[in-house]
Amino acid sequence: MKVPDIKVTPPGPKAREVIERDKKYMATTTKSAPVVIKRGQGSIVEDVDGNILIDFASGISVLNVGLSHPKVVEAVRKQAGEFMHFAGTDYYYDVQTQLAKKLAEITPGKHPKKTFFANSGAEGNEAAIKIAKYYKKRQMFLAFLGAFHGRSQGALSLTASKAKQKSGFFPTMPGVVHVPYAYCFRCPYKMTYPGCDLYCANIIEDLYLKTIAPPEDLAGVFVEPVQGEGGFIVPPPGWLDRIGKIAKDNDFLFIDDEVQAGFGRSGKMWAIDYSKVIPDIMVLAKSLGGGMPIGVAVFDAKMDFPMSGKHSNTYGGNPVAAASSLAVIDVIESEGLVDRSAKLGKQMAKRLDEMKDAYEFIGDRRGLGMMQVHEFVTDKRTNKPNPKLRDAVEKDAYEHGLILLGCGEQGIRYIPALNIEEDILDSGLDVLEGCFKRASK
Ligand SMILES: Cc1ncc(COP(=O)(O)O)c(C=O)c1O
Repeated sequence: MKVPDIKVTPPGPKAREVIERDKKYMATTTKSAPVVIKRGQGSIVEDVDGNILIDFASGISVLNVGLSHPKVVEAVRKQAGEFMHFAGTDYYYDVQTQLAKKLAEITPGKHPKKTFFANSGAEGNEAAIKIAKYYKKRQMFLAFLGAFHGRSQGALSLTASKAKQKSGFFPTMPGVVHVPYAYCFRCPYKMTYPGCDLYCANIIEDLYLKTIAPPEDLAGVFVEPVQGEGGFIVPPPGWLDRIGKIAKDNDFLFIDDEVQAGFGRSGKMWAIDYSKVIPDIMVLAKSLGGGMPIGVAVFDAKMDFPMSGKHSNTYGGNPVAAASSLAVIDVIESEGLVDRSAKLGKQMAKRLDEMKDAYEFIGDRRGLGMMQVHEFVTDKRTNKPNPKLRDAVEKDAYEHGLILLGCGEQGIRYIPALNIEEDILDSGLDVLEGCFKRASK
């Protein structure tokens, strides 16, 4: 099979039909590209017009084991054949207890842990908010500018990624104080690492906690160990540990949102593993389900609600999604995908760096493992953001058979499946380079 193989420039006639119907009947949400997929396997997708494309977007980091991995499909089929749903959280299910046990084992820290099951990343964060508030008997949270934690009203109060995501929806949950993230390429304090001595972390303790975020009212800090939607921003060494220490010294919880960075994506099982921090709560979703909707808050067992009925839902930890999750974790472990992510991520970063050096409009390449980004600029002297060019490259890429996803205002993220074949990865990078060559003209 020729890969990629564009027979008709997307969107072809069948894709246009679907898009028309979508526009007419579906609520307006977010759309990146007019690609309508018919089927997919691993890192290859076929659209409804018969085009064959390479997937470098992994369903926004959901498909870490690729599309329709046979072991995941088998687990889903088996569970669906036995039962898909029974009485929600009101009854007991072996598959949920097995998954909760597994998550307690594979997340950082040897202490007893428990899992709350939800259906998405936003709902996982909603659960984390309630667990933290109830346990600490406090109402306030710290979060970071550029953060994305979801769009439901509670999670949205933590999100500070793009103004349009919040505008029109205030008031959100009160008591969230946002502080600048460690965005070294565009340091909000115009400093340089390591000379800055992590000023952006220190100022939390030196200024914010002394003024607008009193520690005695703080339940916790929500941290993405690599900021995802904000632009794949990787904090410098020591930053996560410094935030962890500030949380510990001031007695509030460290809540690690690994919805996008988790499950091997960063070249380690958890992006927080790049530090020594043991989170009090971890929020996981996306790749956890491998394509089935599921999200969790995994937390120190001592923080569990003291009675039933404080938080619950109908579908959280749905048996089919839970079976899928167990299969995903099994594939990640048995196929050595964390190490593969680290190894292939290095190869990918090397080529992306070569492209960055060759093209004036790529200001930065950064990332960990298979979680990489290029930031588009007008020129390397000013590093002025260039979102228009970013959008044009994304469009050119799908028209030539490569599925990409933007992130931040001017970034394109490269997040292929962790088990992508090396020749497919290379072909995808070749398509990308072709886009850059055309863009430079
Ligand atoms: C770090 C992070 N947290 C939470 C979410 C929200 O997840 P969901 O879209 O499943 O609600 C996202 C989604 O992109 C995310 O990247």
